[in-house]
Amino acid sequence: MSAAMSEDVKNQAPRGDEASFGFASVSEGARQGLVNAVFSKVAGRYDLMNDLMSAGLHRLWKDELVNTLAPPKSATPFALIDVAGGTGDIAFRFLDAAGPGGQAVICDISKEMIEAGKARVDSNKESAQSRKPLMFVQGNAEALPFEPSRFDAYTIAFGIRNVTHIDAALAEAFRVLKPGGRFLCLEFSSVEMPLLDALYDAYSFNAIPALGQLVAGDAEAYRYLVESIRRFPRQERFAQMIRHAGFERVRYRNLTGGIAAIHSGWRL
Ligand SMILES: C[S@@+](CC[C@H](N)C(=O)[O-])C[C@H]1O[C@@H](n2cnc3c(N)ncnc32)[C@H](O)[C@@H]1O
Repeated sequence: MSAAMSEDVKNQAPRGDEASFGFASVSEGARQGLVNAVFSKVAGRYDLMNDLMSAGLHRLWKDELVNTLAPPKSATPFALIDVAGGTGDIAFRFLDAAGPGGQAVICDISKEMIEAGKARVDSNKESAQSRKPLMFVQGNAEALPFEPSRFDAYTIAFGIRNVTHIDAALAEAFRVLKPGGRFLCLEFSSVEMPLLDALYDAYSFNAIPALGQLVAGDAEAYRYLVESIRRFPRQERFAQMIRHAGFERVRYRNLTGGIAAIHSGWRL
């Protein structure tokens, strides 16, 4: 679908039991399978593509997410769940930054993304990631396989827009966090700078699928990624959804003019 598609069409809510898959409408039941197919196809090239597509910017945004969390440096246990954690970028940064009490669970629905993450740990045996407790669990953000109030912090980076029912994922985040626990979400967002938005649109709709074809052999998967970004709720609307799930002191901060944003909240 072209970049020229009008805002009205892009933001149209799918009807009934339909869900958006990029700019297309599919049945709710089919959507997660389509998303899983995207990530199983690109898993082997996922990290490389992230660097190429964002010219390395995603690393700075992820550093910023972990800086915002500011994991404690003490030996007191502090447990993170990184949902849609993929190949481990957030959990690894967290374990590097945390004190000896840091422990992390990476939960992702895709077996292939988890395998790619495990391979990274295996290839870096001396790192903090291999010295501190780290567990990979296959699971759906909408029905996390964990008991209530288990975690001190919940992160999700570039993951929540892939979930079919965002409200269900937010309710699960609230459920698995301890009272006093922190929610942090890094996601592509809506560019709020004139000119940058036009440039960004041109780049995303043309260069990214072409790069996806060249590097990962799959233009369609990357077209989905770009379109799903445009379907994701704008900053203030997403903040409202987080409040609605029960979180308090909800805030957001734009990164690089709103190309990405960090939303945060507390379970109090
Ligand atoms: C764009 S990647 C982000 C990976 C990693 N967080 C990062 O920032 O590099 C999106 C991830 O979300 C996962 N995902 C998609 N739907 C999910 C769901 N319903 N529950 C859990 N993970 C999901 C995908 O398998 C994929 O690994």
